[in-house]
Amino acid sequence: MKKDLISIADLTTKEINEIIDVAAKLKEKPFAKKGLFWDKTLALLFQKPSNRTRISLEVAMTHLGGHTMYLSPREIEMGAREPVKDVARVISRYVDVIVARVFYHQDVVDLAKYSDVPVINGLSDLAHPCQALADLMTIKEKFKNLKKAVVSYIGDGNNVLNSLMVVCAKTGVRIKIGTPKGYEPDAEMLKIAMSVAKKNKSSVELYNDPKEAAKGADVVYTDVWVSMGQEDEREKRLKDFRAYQVNDELLSKANKNAIIMHCLPAHRGEEISDCIDGKNSVVFDQAENRMHVAKAVLLRALS
Ligand code: CP
Ligand code: NVA
Repeated sequence: MKKDLISIADLTTKEINEIIDVAAKLKEKPFAKKGLFWDKTLALLFQKPSNRTRISLEVAMTHLGGHTMYLSPREIEMGAREPVKDVARVISRYVDVIVARVFYHQDVVDLAKYSDVPVINGLSDLAHPCQALADLMTIKEKFKNLKKAVVSYIGDGNNVLNSLMVVCAKTGVRIKIGTPKGYEPDAEMLKIAMSVAKKNKSSVELYNDPKEAAKGADVVYTDVWVSMGQEDEREKRLKDFRAYQVNDELLSKANKNAIIMHCLPAHRGEEISDCIDGKNSVVFDQAENRMHVAKAVLLRALS
């Protein structure tokens, strides 16, 4: 069976741990077998801009000896110039693995359905699994015993949170979520996360008070208030999220020396203050770990 990665919910805890372990080993010793994927091509099919996802995957593929082809929205016009299912069937005759960044989650699901080669979700409106794996790797670097770490996510219940809460639930990490009313994470993902967390003797907790959500946290995580594709809602969102900024005052509710995480890009003065540049911020370790995880994910897909 081909090894797609569409949502963290599709991975077992064992698979998640394997990916993190391989990524950690590759961080120590960056090159796998030299030239391993000399005859393999990765297509990056992106409908939205990207710094980390695109570059980490391209560099990962280079280190593994393979080739990458970046296809911007202008090249393919997926869904407009031709249907997603035809794009999948054509591209998978040429390349060995596809990473897609899409507006609608259903598009990456359909790509995987109609493609003969593995498809990896490089961000959709619903999920960001590659990010969540790098997040978990980063948390594990700081807290060896994941079951003792408390993660607090403050802000928008978006794609990044959907994947983060499921990866936490699957690995027994307690997560407290602080969002304004109406901005909670996806209901179906939440149901999955809550039931998995219960089995793992952990919890996924929802709060509307950011201070309550930050209380006792070892990790304080946030993401942008306006995700790509939501630009029309910007004004309303900036108002609705005003009380949810991660700053020194909010951090005073968390545990002393709690680490600060953000998937980036960050908007200082909106979802986060300059505390993102302070000594407890691990955002650039997190960004670096995207590359190590990218290698592990490509090895899983192509081996
Ligand atoms: N965190 C993340 O996915 O960044 P990019 O949007 O720059 O890829
Ligand atoms: N939630 C953000 C994440 C960017 C990496 C977005 O979807 O734009």
